[in-house]
Amino acid sequence: MPESFDVPKINLAFLPTPLEALPTLSKVLGGPKLWIKRDDHTGLALGGNKVRKLEFLLADAREKEAELLVTRGAHQSNHCRQTAAAAAKSGFGCKLVLTGERPKDVTGNLLLDWLFGAETVWSGARDPEEVLAETFETADLQGLKPYLIPYGGSNKLGVYAYAKAMEELQLQDSSFDRIVFASSSGGTQAGLILGGYLSGFEGEILGISVDEKASDLQARIANLVNSTAQWLGVEYSIEPEMVRVEDGYLGEGYAKVSNLEREAIRDFAQHEGILLDPVYTGRAAGGLMSLIRRGEIQGDERVLFLHTGGTPAIFVYGEGLIVRSA
Ligand SMILES: Cc1ncc(COP(=O)(O)O)c(C=O)c1O
Repeated sequence: MPESFDVPKINLAFLPTPLEALPTLSKVLGGPKLWIKRDDHTGLALGGNKVRKLEFLLADAREKEAELLVTRGAHQSNHCRQTAAAAAKSGFGCKLVLTGERPKDVTGNLLLDWLFGAETVWSGARDPEEVLAETFETADLQGLKPYLIPYGGSNKLGVYAYAKAMEELQLQDSSFDRIVFASSSGGTQAGLILGGYLSGFEGEILGISVDEKASDLQARIANLVNSTAQWLGVEYSIEPEMVRVEDGYLGEGYAKVSNLEREAIRDFAQHEGILLDPVYTGRAAGGLMSLIRRGEIQGDERVLFLHTGGTPAIFVYGEGLIVRSA
């Protein structure tokens, strides 16, 4: 990416994240040649994709002289856990609006939110976005100097972070036919698309939707790509149909685990010693393995799976993640 694009950042992540071959899994699936990019090893707070976005978001918060980070997510949000840790490390306070009611058991990401000293607010039956706006306004009126981080950290700064990640990947290996990963708020995919355009990547950037039908996610991602390109002064724009999203693996809905995720978690663990999470990477890897078995991804391809993190949620599901034979 040209130097003139340099946007202020604070260092939170261990970069570049490792790129590894998955030889055993490739053999078990009968090809293609699989690789994995370990963004679950971004370092801070057990890692994950949001750490890259937070490097730019927190630099902006600091520039604006904010003192309190305010964001929202599911009650097992990885984004919230990484935000809480980034806030702790960088000297900000942190308020998290979490969806629904406080669960009986405090474990996984929620436990980590508390260990990092974040304050949690429960949205109950209300619209979490409304509760977030209200929480922000109250903090502002109280003079707490809040900074709003959008859902999933997906705005132009979050997109920029993943455009930079694409540049990092291209320097490691630029020969992949496809990159496959979990897509939700869309910032990761938007960044990879923009970074792919800027670095001349010619393969497919395929997001496996974890919680939304393709048309909605494609529209949001195209919007994020186009607004970030405009902000950077890059002449590039895309239509929603150009965003590659697979929404055939939504199952029973967000965070509802089925054998798709269980088997992917088992196969990555037992063939490669790699932990996937039940909500995002388990679903995305399950989708990837299904596309390979259906012949939609062919045996002679070089395919990269981007591991976006999320492993703390494993402990919330416990034995429910083990594949039981019928
Ligand atoms: C582990 C994990 N993977 C993937 C994603 C999706 O990333 P994005 O929201 O940028 O689409 C998330 C978002 O919360 C996540 O926590």
